[in-house]
Amino acid sequence: MRISFHGHSVVKIQTNKHTILIDPFINGNGQTDLQVEQENPDVILLTHGHNDHVGDTVELAKKNDALVVAPNELANYLGWQGCRVHNMHIGGAYNFDFGKVKYTQAFHGSSYVTDKNEIIYTGMPGGILFTAEDVTIYHAGDTALFGDMELIGKRHPIDVAFLPIGDNFTMGPEDAAYAVSLLKPKIVVPIHYNTFPPIVQDPNDFANLVEGADVQILKPGEEVNF
Ligand code: NI
Ligand code: MN
Repeated sequence: MRISFHGHSVVKIQTNKHTILIDPFINGNGQTDLQVEQENPDVILLTHGHNDHVGDTVELAKKNDALVVAPNELANYLGWQGCRVHNMHIGGAYNFDFGKVKYTQAFHGSSYVTDKNEIIYTGMPGGILFTAEDVTIYHAGDTALFGDMELIGKRHPIDVAFLPIGDNFTMGPEDAAYAVSLLKPKIVVPIHYNTFPPIVQDPNDFANLVEGADVQILKPGEEVNF
């Protein structure tokens, strides 16, 4: 399996047979190395409805007939936009042919702003546990620190965790480092920073605070080494 980071919260997972994109925010993402025209995902996993996570999902999904997996209300909305969707919700897991997806809680908001400045309610935000080829990845989405991260780590041994460190909208470096002590992943990759002025961070500040996990600070396009 190949796991790569592409700026902000964009993660690409390539298994033997499938390419999975998480939160494919490409256009408008000054931190990404990706181009919409060059991406051919089989699957798109979404944590929540904010535009910096849904990103280019509709175009990518239609162009590639990709399956979009999202929290129920967001999946309904994207289904109305013509996407092929699979609705899920927090606490639920499902075994797909490309791997197992389980939604975890996230303390955040979830709505989508249309180009007419309408706000579409998109349900509860989530995090995602993805397991394939005996590797479990946790993408926290956007979230505050919460105590039940300990439960998530106990119930699902995590190989690679992607945690937001940007502060302002999500955990900052200190809370994210504490989250690592609860989740106990083998490898942790900081995400959701430096994209916008309020979330500028030095990821080394996070790395210096983490104990008990291998921190891998990835530049856009770099892969997790495991
Ligand atoms: Ni958000
Ligand atoms: Mn966000």
